[in-house]
This record gives sequence, C-alpha cells and structure tokens, in this order.
Amino acid sequence: MASLEVLITEQQIQDKVSELARRISQDYGDTPLLLVSVLKGSFMFLADLVRQLGPNTEIDFVQTSSYGDGTSSTGIVQIRKDLDISIEGRDVLIVEDILDTGLTLAHLRELLGTRRPRSLKVVTLLCKPEAARHGTQAEYVGFEIPDRFVVGYGLDHAERYRNLPYVAVLHEAV
Ligand code: IMP
Repeated sequence: MASLEVLITEQQIQDKVSELARRISQDYGDTPLLLVSVLKGSFMFLADLVRQLGPNTEIDFVQTSSYGDGTSSTGIVQIRKDLDISIEGRDVLIVEDILDTGLTLAHLRELLGTRRPRSLKVVTLLCKPEAARHGTQAEYVGFEIPDRFVVGYGLDHAERYRNLPYVAVLHEAV
C-alpha cells in the first residue's frame, strides 16, 4: 500500500498562487499575456492562477512526454500536443507544475523560442534541486522542494492523485 505525507497544504498553495499572480500582474501590467500550460500536471495550477490574472490573459496548452508509469525521468522529451495559437510577437508565460531535471522546460524554451515570441518566461509551482544544478531556471517559482516524488494538485503517479487539493510525498511500500 502506498501512503501520502502532506508536504504543502491547500492553504499554503492558495496563498502562494495569489502571491505569484500579484507579481505577474505587476510585471506585465495591462500587456496581453498568453499562458502556455504544460499538460497534464499544470492544469490545476493554471486554473487557479488564471482566475487571479487580468482580462487580457489568454491560455493555450502543450503536452510533452511524461515518465509513463514510473517515478524516474527517461530523459526523452517529446511534444505530444502542440499549441493551437501562434506565439509570434506575443508575451508568453509557460506554466509548469514542477521542475525536476529541468529537461522538459529546457526543451520547451528552445522550441518556443524559435517561434519568435516577444518575451518568453516561466512560472513553476514546484522546483526540485536537480533543476538548479542543470542551470534550468524559472522566472517565478512557487516552492523549492526536496528531491522526493510528489503527487497532488495536478501531479500524478500513473494518473492517480491529480485531484488532491494539496501536494504530498508518495511513499511506496516495497
Ligand atoms: P523534468 O523534465 O525532469 O524537469 O520533469 C518534468 C516533468 O516530470 C513534470 O512536468 C512532471 O510531469 C514530471 N515530474 C517530475 N517530478 C515529479 C514528481 O515528483 N511527481 C510527479 N511528476 C513529476
């Protein structure tokens, strides 16, 4: 049986989302902003974040390959679903759930950068230490967390636990 240990409570997440939304609103002002949500993990973060941003905000989705059913990175990043909207000349903010190795983000930044957006920044709710070691950074980071496998608030293990309103460490019995 797997067990869950709460790492970040629902209240802590909601407070952090408000803080990030305030910072993003201050930085962009009335400039139209396109949020690019990386599926599936960032859907809940996107939904909470976008409701606290101004009326000039649009959203689109991209999906990259995931870990499958395991808990360690394959190092292979592929685009499964591309954007519907052209980002040329747009101010784009990538919305990520978590940076682990940072490989997914590095790849996305490179790909989207070739489409000539006016600006390209990243907001991630969670960041593990490995990403910093690889030099992958987000302009806006919610929480720095230890190198543990976490689920909840959009994050899954084999598609389970995404609906939890909090973030928890998943302990798997061996
Ligand atoms: P990266 O490319 O190693 O930074 O991995 C990014 C993606 O891996 C995230 O968008 C998640 O989908 C997944 N991932 C990384 N760490 C975790 C975790 O602790 N729990 C659930 N998914 C994770």
